[in-house]
Amino acid sequence: MKSLDTPLLKDGVFYVGVKDWNRRLFDALIPLPQGTTYNAYLIKGTEKTALIDTVNPGFEAELESKINNVSSVNQIDYIIMNHAEPDHAGAIPYLLTKNDKAKLVCTKIGAKTAQTYFKVPEERILIVKDNDTLELGNKTLKFIEAPMLHWPETIFTYLVQEKILFTCDFFGLHTAYGLYDEEVAELSIFAQRYFGEIMMPFRGYGLRAIDKIENIEIEMIAPSHGPIHKNPTKILDCYSKWTRGETQQKVIVVYVSMWKSTENMVNQIVEVLLQKGVQVSLHNLVNADLGDIAKDLVDSSAIVFGTPTVLFKMHPLATYAAHLVKVLKPPMKYGVVLTSYGWSKGALAHANEVLGPTGLEVVGAMEVLGPPTESDLEKVRVIGEELADKVKQNYAAK
Ligand code: FEO
Repeated sequence: MKSLDTPLLKDGVFYVGVKDWNRRLFDALIPLPQGTTYNAYLIKGTEKTALIDTVNPGFEAELESKINNVSSVNQIDYIIMNHAEPDHAGAIPYLLTKNDKAKLVCTKIGAKTAQTYFKVPEERILIVKDNDTLELGNKTLKFIEAPMLHWPETIFTYLVQEKILFTCDFFGLHTAYGLYDEEVAELSIFAQRYFGEIMMPFRGYGLRAIDKIENIEIEMIAPSHGPIHKNPTKILDCYSKWTRGETQQKVIVVYVSMWKSTENMVNQIVEVLLQKGVQVSLHNLVNADLGDIAKDLVDSSAIVFGTPTVLFKMHPLATYAAHLVKVLKPPMKYGVVLTSYGWSKGALAHANEVLGPTGLEVVGAMEVLGPPTESDLEKVRVIGEELADKVKQNYAAK
């Protein structure tokens, strides 16, 4: 049986996920200009039926209706929890109430999380570990532990016969458009944005996961956000670059300005970088999109950070951005800090305090009283030239 609402992906494998067109913010932080999806997959074997992941709270009835197009909630034997975050696991309590036989399949850490978040009784949980398999009759599920992608309990599930890898957050992207990768415009841009927002702090774990799946034959990657990758090579190539921290001859410039003093310095350095043939991605924090900044952090070799002083500290928008740069752990090597003040210094010391732990090599740092003089701007130009040289040499050395 095939339903338009419940597309058949491969023999016995159905898409039962939902689209959330109207969601505009994730984690009360990340902008979602095109909404997102919560993908779930129903796998019907000759003997058993498994559901891979569920949906965000509020979409339980839609999930159930999609399952009912091709099966029924009562027919599910296993609910595979690849990841416990509620956007994927939020419908587990609903399903376990409607179906009193299904087991929740997860890792040992996942079991604790499921008990904490969803009050799943111990007797309803089946714990699996790396390389364990689960037989559905004519289909076999194999589990691959993939910690920190995106929480400690995360696993991938591989459907052996159909060669589909279900990866939950990993290889995902936030857009509600399209079922398959080929239907999504700017796929790699949205994927990069998502990687920067969600996966960049866990690049090392991502590398290890990619190593683990290297020898698996994959015909389709089915994440739990965004389109299904029918052509897995494209997203695998992107993730290979991004997890390795491969950067471009590119500088991200993130700044805020009150009376144009900081802005004038920023504009000078941008001009120099462009003249020297370095790509620049400029973000004024007053109206910047956090997802765009995250995207550009993924492949920039350096950052120029500009802020005025407000009450002895960085401007609050710059404080927020500096904190994000620190915790997202981008692979860039070089930094420049351009600050200004009116009646008391403070922004530069504050920037050093917040950004110091990133280990960036500081190519230049300035703290200018009032509007920059021609001499100040000349110093900015010199810093810009040095930064451009370093970025280009670093790129050429790869
Ligand atoms: Fe899509 Fe980490 O949840």
